[in-house]
Amino acid sequence: MRIIYTDTYQKMSEEAAKVIAGQLWVKPDSVLGLATGSTPVELYQNLVWLHKTVGLDFAQATSFNLDEYVGLAEDDPQSYHRFMHENLFNHVNMRRDRIFFPNGMAADAAREAEDYEARIAAAGGIDMQLLGIGRNAHIGFNEPDDAFARTTHKVALKESTIEANARFFSSAAEVPREAMSMGIGTIFRARHIVLLASGAEKAEAVRDAVEGTITPRVPASILQLHPCVTLIVDHAAGALLSGKSEP
Ligand code: GLP
Repeated sequence: MRIIYTDTYQKMSEEAAKVIAGQLWVKPDSVLGLATGSTPVELYQNLVWLHKTVGLDFAQATSFNLDEYVGLAEDDPQSYHRFMHENLFNHVNMRRDRIFFPNGMAADAAREAEDYEARIAAAGGIDMQLLGIGRNAHIGFNEPDDAFARTTHKVALKESTIEANARFFSSAAEVPREAMSMGIGTIFRARHIVLLASGAEKAEAVRDAVEGTITPRVPASILQLHPCVTLIVDHAAGALLSGKSEP
């Protein structure tokens, strides 16, 4: 695993933008796997800036988002669909017909999950998958479990995740209890995985993911087995890694 240590959230975001912009410059028709949450917000601002100032081109790119809440319509202010449009898609030249999310409103979740996998496969697979990490080391919405989920599926959110995500809603009671998420296998098939972590509340999850036992109880620990992972951490999130030397 390649680890890029940065001092601040801003620097982490800039480094991440360079990695994704580099991917698009080398392969303009890249298939990107994208993530939500507060972690990638400034990365997306950097990508928008690169688009507007130096012409970073999304015209041939395709995107698949990691996850979506069950029961929220696309235009719901809290949906990940809306988040991605407000933070990135509305400000760059990505074609609308090349933007994909798992449909959290699908009547038949199992069918939707299969269709999502088929759409990813038909696009040629994911070239670069962006990930944040939950405080319990979840990736996408793959929560700690007895086994690694292989493909896209409907998942029941852990209470800790509901509480962590309640900051985006007016109360924890409004956070959906379920989501559709790419599985660990879906994520793992990406050719390059870029994992971002910022803030002290992620430090233990990062340490366990990078240096701990590989176990579905720490979903991100599976990334130790992937041949091409770039982890970009700020000072606080990387503080417990053994390779981290004090500045
Ligand atoms: C959410 C998302 C994840 C995200 C994680 C961390 O539940 N499903 O994709 O990486 O939590 O979020 P944040 O970046 O806000 O800490």
